[in-house]
Amino acid sequence: MWTPPKFVYQVLILILFGRQSSATKYKFLLENEDIFTDCPNKPSNVHNINGVFDTSEGTFETDFVTVLFTGNLTCVWNIQPGDRIQMTFEIKRFDRGSWQPTVFNINVRDFCSSLYEEEQYWYKYWSKYIINKEQVREKCILPGTKFIHEPFNVDLLFEARGLTLIGRHKLVYTFKAFDTNGVERETSICLEILGEFQRE
Ligand SMILES: *[C@@H]1O[C@H](CO)[C@@H](O)[C@H](O)[C@H]1NC(C)=O
Repeated sequence: MWTPPKFVYQVLILILFGRQSSATKYKFLLENEDIFTDCPNKPSNVHNINGVFDTSEGTFETDFVTVLFTGNLTCVWNIQPGDRIQMTFEIKRFDRGSWQPTVFNINVRDFCSSLYEEEQYWYKYWSKYIINKEQVREKCILPGTKFIHEPFNVDLLFEARGLTLIGRHKLVYTFKAFDTNGVERETSICLEILGEFQRE
């Protein structure tokens, strides 16, 4: 039953949907039991979810609408102090046999600087529940950083404005790290979640 990466994905979904507020409500039904898939054709220096977090100290329970998470996540991506972490997110729609881009395409230039900003959705849905945030705030997601959480719920209901999100889609997340000279680190992260949007 316990497949650790689920929680991470659900948080990431929420992080990126949260901004599209006050509009049509959708449910995202996950396609795979273990939630995530590796990005297709990724080279060996592009890591998957296990390249970001060690989830072995976390547990979750789900009824497929709500997820309860308890425990810890430990960062394992080999980045360096001072690196800028850039995150991109896009939604692709499966249409007549291939994945097509949609207008959902978000680029967060400096993920670390806003990780604990209270107005951010990831704070509301995730980082707010990190008990030891004062201890780990400066470390962002440097390797060895352990996020200790109070138990919390996330749900898989989302809102979107100005477009229709029905049918099979995938959510694609990438994380890249850049050193202080702006040179990209050798490794990056790429994750996908496949699922189906349904109107609530
Ligand atoms: C989470 O980390 C804390 C501090 O290291 C530890 O005491 C606790 O046992 C961990 N929780 C789990 C579920 O492993």
